[in-house]
Amino acid sequence: MPSRSLDAPGRGHWSGRTAFILAAVGSAVGLGNFWRFPYLAGENGGGAFVLVYLVCVLLVATPLVMAELLIGRRGQASAVASLRRLIDEAGAKGLWVAIGWFGMLAGFLVLSFYSVIAGWILLYLPKAAAGLGAVDAGEAGALFEGMLRDPAAMMTAHALFMILTVVIVGGGIGGGIERAVRVLMPAFFLLLIFLAIFALIIGDAATGLAFLFSPDFSKLSADVFLSALSQAFFSVSLGFAALITYGSYLRRDVEIPQTSLVVTLTDTLVALVAGLAIFPIVFAFGLQPTQGPGLIFVTLPVAFGQMPFGGLIALIFFVLAAIAALTSSISLLEIIVSWLEEKVRWPRIVSAGAVGLACFALGIATVLSFNAWSDVRPLAGTGLLESATLFDLKDFIATKVCLPIGGLMIAVFVAFILPRPITQDELGLGDGAFALWRLLVAGAAIPATIGVLLISVGLI
Ligand code: PHE
Repeated sequence: MPSRSLDAPGRGHWSGRTAFILAAVGSAVGLGNFWRFPYLAGENGGGAFVLVYLVCVLLVATPLVMAELLIGRRGQASAVASLRRLIDEAGAKGLWVAIGWFGMLAGFLVLSFYSVIAGWILLYLPKAAAGLGAVDAGEAGALFEGMLRDPAAMMTAHALFMILTVVIVGGGIGGGIERAVRVLMPAFFLLLIFLAIFALIIGDAATGLAFLFSPDFSKLSADVFLSALSQAFFSVSLGFAALITYGSYLRRDVEIPQTSLVVTLTDTLVALVAGLAIFPIVFAFGLQPTQGPGLIFVTLPVAFGQMPFGGLIALIFFVLAAIAALTSSISLLEIIVSWLEEKVRWPRIVSAGAVGLACFALGIATVLSFNAWSDVRPLAGTGLLESATLFDLKDFIATKVCLPIGGLMIAVFVAFILPRPITQDELGLGDGAFALWRLLVAGAAIPATIGVLLISVGLI
């Protein structure tokens, strides 16, 4: 089968490999790394979770990242349209388009809470400017609680963050997204490393390191596996069709396997460094690793409180964190906008605004689930997820149901439905490396995603 030639005319493209890597890393590195990873590690026993997480990233997520990118680049269109083209090319059944629908649904749900949490970061900016450099553990906790009790402020910050996302996505691929990530990601990395070093010095490095890196195997459980795999997907932006979408703007001369590895390894490194910046502080100041979504908001201010120029460093940190969140949220929005653009002839900014508005509206439920509606438990009495709030429920549906279903379908689709000449050609791999990739997809990704689905619905 001849390799499909190049880039569809008239579509935006990343200017080159570096631009794509920055955008993909920008998508991958976000709240998932420095907000979600640490609190999940804290809730799931530390080292055991981290170990399972690493295995999941390497053996399950990375081969599937390659799969999503190859689908996108071959399809050269929005996720759903790309899948349709590949289905035609392979003569397969239409049901595989569902990969795109599940991805879009997950992306929509995630963006509706992502933007709220990113809004917390925005709300911390003035706090940092006003002297976050002086708080102790008790005050940091009070500050965070105070913010949660103020839905109006959270709503405003959520709106602001959504507007920023819409404006960048509205600007298009090269002009908006690429220009932003080029400068911002490197700055973020440097500051995070600095913070980790500082935390290891002022915090309880020994306990922090032991918590993260010496696994207590008695803590392993089906739930730990469920959280680790779904976090691996979330963190590398897998299963949302985001990578199919970004891959569709990719030129043919970029090698998908190497690029995928760079993205997943960088992402993992950032998560681990974030853990190093947080847990030494947790243990040194008597904070709880298991406190959930508020973890970074109560630990990091304590570190800032200890350091010279803490207020200033806090300010820089939250600015960069907001940016890292933004380079992810734009990819979440882009998934749906690229699809909508093929359906309607609206200017791009209008499509972006429409999706952003809908997402904002759904996000109001997230805001309220931390205060006015914190007692609302939609599934109470059903025997399943009885204690879940609206936020928990969205997170569960997106990351523990949609992602594994999407992931499983992608795995089966590339391993068994697409003809080998297509996949091998897009990946550009020799026979040995290709066989290894296929083995990982069929032998690791498929059983792992099936396992996670069974655990999610309570069958394991
Ligand atoms: N990977 C991002 C993070 O870790 C979240 C994300 C998921 C972004 C899916 C885009 C698509 O924060």
